[in-house]
Amino acid sequence: MIPPTQNRTHAPMPERIIIDTDPGHDDAFAILLALASPELDVLGITTVAGNVPVAVVTANARRIVELAGRPGIPVHQGAERPLLRDPMHAADIHGDTGIDGYDWPAPANPPEAEHALDFMVRTLTAAEPRSVTLVPLGPLTNIALLLRRAPHLSDRIRRIVLMGGGFFEGGNYAPAAEFNILVDPEAAAIVFGAGIELAAMPIDCTNNTLTPDWWIGRLAALGTRVGDACAGMQRFFEIAGNRKYGTRTRPLHDVLAMAYLLWPDLFAGRLCNVEIETNSELTRGATVVDWWYRTTRPHNCTWVRQCLDTPELYTRILARLATL
Ligand code: BDR
Ligand code: CA
Repeated sequence: MIPPTQNRTHAPMPERIIIDTDPGHDDAFAILLALASPELDVLGITTVAGNVPVAVVTANARRIVELAGRPGIPVHQGAERPLLRDPMHAADIHGDTGIDGYDWPAPANPPEAEHALDFMVRTLTAAEPRSVTLVPLGPLTNIALLLRRAPHLSDRIRRIVLMGGGFFEGGNYAPAAEFNILVDPEAAAIVFGAGIELAAMPIDCTNNTLTPDWWIGRLAALGTRVGDACAGMQRFFEIAGNRKYGTRTRPLHDVLAMAYLLWPDLFAGRLCNVEIETNSELTRGATVVDWWYRTTRPHNCTWVRQCLDTPELYTRILARLATL
C-alpha cells in the first residue's frame, strides 16, 4: 500500500522572482498579475528611473502592492540615473505621476531603507544556485550594476525575463530603439552579454498584441478597487497611445513579459544572438537580432516574436486580476 504522504499530488514550487520596474501603467499591470499568480513568489520589487523619476516610481510600486492587498511585499529604491547617460522619461505616455488615470491614495507605508542593489545582493547571497528569476520591466541599470558589483552571484540567477527591445518593429522612442534599451544601452549591453539565460519580450510581440476592445469594460465590471484602478489607468494609457502612435487600444508591454513567464505556451520565439548598439548616434539602443543565424555569435537570448492567441492571453490576465 502507498503511504498517504506519497499519494498526494504536490503543486510545483513557485518560481521565485524579483521584479525590477519603473511603474508605469504596463508595469502596474505586470506587478498585479504577478501578485495574483500562485506560480510566482515575489521576493521583492526594486525600482529604477525610467518612465518617471525613481522616487515617483518607487511610491507607485508601494501604491500597487498596497492596492493588491500585499503591503508586506518589500519595495527597494534603486538607480536614479542610467550608467553613463542623462535620464530620459516617458511622461508623455504615462502622465506626470507615471500611473495617471486613477485617483491613487498616497502609499500607507514608505519603501524599505535598504537600497535595491543591497537587497538583490543579500537575497542572491542567501539563495540556492539558479533559484531566483529577475524580471526587469524598465531600463536595465540596476541589473547591470548588480552584475558588475557581484558577478559571482550570477550563478544564483535562474533566468532573466525582461521587457525590452525591438527589431522587426523598429523602435518606439527612437526610430531604431525601444524605450527601456534606449534609456540605458550600456546597461543593456552588460545584461545581454552576461551569459545568463535570458528571454526578451520586445515590441515586435507587444505592438502586435493590443488589448482587446472589451478589455476596459471587463476591468471596470470587476467591481473591485483593482478593477477600477486598472480600468482608469487603461483609459488614460489608450488616450495617450492614441495621440502618439495612432492605435486605438494599447500594447501593454510589461504585462506580456510576466505573461510569458506564466504561460510560455501562448508565445513563439527563437533562441538566437542579440547584441546592443551603444556607439552609433543614429541607432543607439538598437537590439540587433540574428534571427536568421547569419553569424556564429553566441545564442544569448530567446527573442519572443509573437503571441499566438491574444484574446486568450487577455482572458487569462483578467481572470487573475479578478482574484485580487
Ligand atoms: C517600455 O517602456 C515603458 O514606457 C513601458 O513601461 C515599457 O516597459 C515599452 O517600450
Ligand atoms: Ca516599464
